[in-house]
Amino acid sequence: IFGCARIPGDKSISHRYAMLAALAEGSSFITNYAPGADCHATLSCLRDLGVIIKTSDTEALKNNGTTIRIEGRGSQGLTPPSNILNVGNSGTTIRLLTGILATQSFESALTGDESLTSRPMERVITPLTQMGAHITAHNGRAPLTVTGRPLHAIDYIPDIPSAQVKSAILFAGLQAKGTTTIRERAITRDHSELALEAFEAFIERSNNMSAHNVTNLQGIENTDTTYRVAITGDQRLVAQSLNVPGDLSSAGFLAAAAAALPGSELELIDVGLNPTRTALINVLRRMGVSIEISEQKVLLGERRGNMVIRHNELHPITIKPGEVPALIDELPLLAALATHGGGLNVTGAEELRKKESDRITSLVTGLRNLGANITEQRDGFCVQGDKKISGGQAQSFGDHRIAMALAIAGLGANGSSLILDSDAVEVSYPNFFDDLEAIVE
Ligand code: S3P
Repeated sequence: IFGCARIPGDKSISHRYAMLAALAEGSSFITNYAPGADCHATLSCLRDLGVIIKTSDTEALKNNGTTIRIEGRGSQGLTPPSNILNVGNSGTTIRLLTGILATQSFESALTGDESLTSRPMERVITPLTQMGAHITAHNGRAPLTVTGRPLHAIDYIPDIPSAQVKSAILFAGLQAKGTTTIRERAITRDHSELALEAFEAFIERSNNMSAHNVTNLQGIENTDTTYRVAITGDQRLVAQSLNVPGDLSSAGFLAAAAAALPGSELELIDVGLNPTRTALINVLRRMGVSIEISEQKVLLGERRGNMVIRHNELHPITIKPGEVPALIDELPLLAALATHGGGLNVTGAEELRKKESDRITSLVTGLRNLGANITEQRDGFCVQGDKKISGGQAQSFGDHRIAMALAIAGLGANGSSLILDSDAVEVSYPNFFDDLEAIVE
């Protein structure tokens, strides 16, 4: 692997900027908006809610990310959709939008694809109902019906660490009566907090963020709630011009390719380096990968910079339960990397079974079909990186991160690998295979 790549815009940040721009007063501009189907679904739901959104070119949006203009409607200005809102495959869209719709003065319904409608929604329904929202579901799953009404503040400790849950509550809290507080045992990605501040909302959060992050990233399990964020309702958001950094979770797949193959050197330009997302970098370094970071800057609260990744001999590592929340989207790529050498043991990651697919079973089945030595546990998996894999035929299970992980594993195989349903990459990184091909020497 050799060369330089620019990664498409961050998916998590793009969703949040688009939703808050829709609630703001005035026109917002977002450049480098994430190109995948998930962030596209957010725009399409917002359009169904009466928001005018102009993209510089629809094809460009799908393929490269581009500039979009969103005409904000103000915090109570969304209009009733004429149809059921379809979020496709996007868990972030449905969970965050439910928080927003719970405060609007109309009824709406949300659904998604087969994977989405099998994922748990109780985690957002419970706190929003405590705030006074009326939401119906089917056995705790979508389709959801949300009847908006005035909400009141709550003080809430989620059972599972989830940025989507925290964000749904914060977005509802923006319009609720009183001050809504969320306390987390391990801090999850804080893009919603930073985005709210970028749109000039006032929030209060624990001091000494860096200490919390370090604690979290080193995987020390906290029994106490270490992080607190509070938002007072009835706030107005002000339209902004925003630029989305490259998505570190997408960058991770190309970084893993460079980390895996001897002689590789890859530069990734302008990648998001928010400390609640960079646990991946620490773990790659623990595996022996050389990573240099340069040109760091902070824009609208989000840290970003360039990364150079060089191959080194890979060491076996263990990921402990306390580290999992900060690495949840990166475990597939780490498993793929471990098939090249070293090895990886992951426990405490049961939450992986509730993602776009059951990622423990998908990874174990897929990597095993490519010849990897991998075993499945209830809450994790163990990869032995002791032999070169054979290659073969494997399913993505319609899951974007599994498709990309299988491709990274396949780069180290003796024979060729065929990945079925590989177009699942459309969800987050439509140009993944082209970008990978461009850096393979
Ligand atoms: C996300 C949060 C995480 C992550 C998902 C994106 C977000 O999910 O896995 O890909 O944008 O808030 P959870 O909140 O369920 O952990």
